[in-house]
Amino acid sequence: MSMNFLAERMKRLGTETAFDVLVKAQALESQGRDIAHMEIGDLGFDTPQNICNAAIEAIKDSRNSHYGPAAGYLKLREAIAEYISKTRKIDVNVNEIVVTPGAKPIMFFGILACVNEGDEVIYPNPGFPIYESVINFVGAKPVPVPLLEEVDFRFDIQRLVDSVTPKTKMIIINSPHNPTGGILLKSDLEVIADLAIKNNIVVMSDEVYSQIIYDDAKHESIASIPGMKERTIIIEGFSKTYAMTGWRLGYGVMPEELAQHITKLMVNSNSCTAGVIQSAGIEALKGPQESVGKMVAELKRRRDVIVDGLNAIEGISCKRPLGAFYVFPNVTKVPMDFMKLPDYLLYEYGVATLAGTAFGEYGKGYLRLCYAGTMESIMKALERMDKAIKALKKG
Ligand SMILES: Cc1ncc(COP(=O)(O)O)c(C=O)c1O
Repeated sequence: MSMNFLAERMKRLGTETAFDVLVKAQALESQGRDIAHMEIGDLGFDTPQNICNAAIEAIKDSRNSHYGPAAGYLKLREAIAEYISKTRKIDVNVNEIVVTPGAKPIMFFGILACVNEGDEVIYPNPGFPIYESVINFVGAKPVPVPLLEEVDFRFDIQRLVDSVTPKTKMIIINSPHNPTGGILLKSDLEVIADLAIKNNIVVMSDEVYSQIIYDDAKHESIASIPGMKERTIIIEGFSKTYAMTGWRLGYGVMPEELAQHITKLMVNSNSCTAGVIQSAGIEALKGPQESVGKMVAELKRRRDVIVDGLNAIEGISCKRPLGAFYVFPNVTKVPMDFMKLPDYLLYEYGVATLAGTAFGEYGKGYLRLCYAGTMESIMKALERMDKAIKALKKG
């Protein structure tokens, strides 16, 4: 039966390829194949025990069995306000925060609330695919700005400046960045802030990897630049920092008036975020933080193993990223059509990766691998990729 009742706008909504590749990889596993999972942006770490215990206690408290405030528990928003004020060095109050099931809804709600049909939205490419998907969904024009390997996957800043038109409504930035692991420098943020202020542009700053940062790198938030807090939506969450991807807990920090509209979108869609999960979030922010440091140290160890391992494979070159938990190796010298490479690696060698183009047109010539799973899968993936690429050279 043809779906003749589908709304036009659904044709404009995109998706995340990582989930499609996961399905393909799991189908192979169900046939008995061993797969090194490097595709999905999830962590192989367990949620810290103190957070799990807080959730168990919260289940026993009947106050958590009911609807709660649409913007989130006051106690959680107080903890978030304290955390953001401290880490971003800005003064944030509870009315500027909306808690959501995961950070993703802030992306969706933020674009829905600020961007009109026909507006232009500038965003990083390669970049998290949901940005472009939602920009298209609301009938706005996506304006991709390339991130360049030569500058450690930062913006082509002149191209960004040149992309601003009178129709530009929003600039989306993401640092540390998925899929490249790149981070934006304060100098980049200053240029973007200047553009935003002069042209009355809203900035959506996706900072979900703010705590996952290596070596001497420092996370900088554009909201810390004078004049920017009042035009920035910070997207943050618990998924990455506390290994809580499946719990679904995130939040946005934004001007108070906008927070009221985003809260209305919560009322219209979710009513509220689950109370038990919010209670776990309070413990995550207020409880001991050692687990975060330990996880980041382990991720750094894995980053070094995967970067060194990939660079040892002939035809692959890979930058050493300073944040997040992804690598974005350049595979243009591998003697195979780059679009066929992920399927070749998956079906012939049992390594699940994503094509760089899953993150936009400027991802051409790259693969994305997530190294947050297990060290065992990293080792397997490296060994198998080496064999797979050597086999191509022989062939
Ligand atoms: C850049 C970026 N933003 C947001 C998200 C979504 O985070 P959450 O699980 O909190 O919805 C992800 C998840 O992969 C991401 O990579």
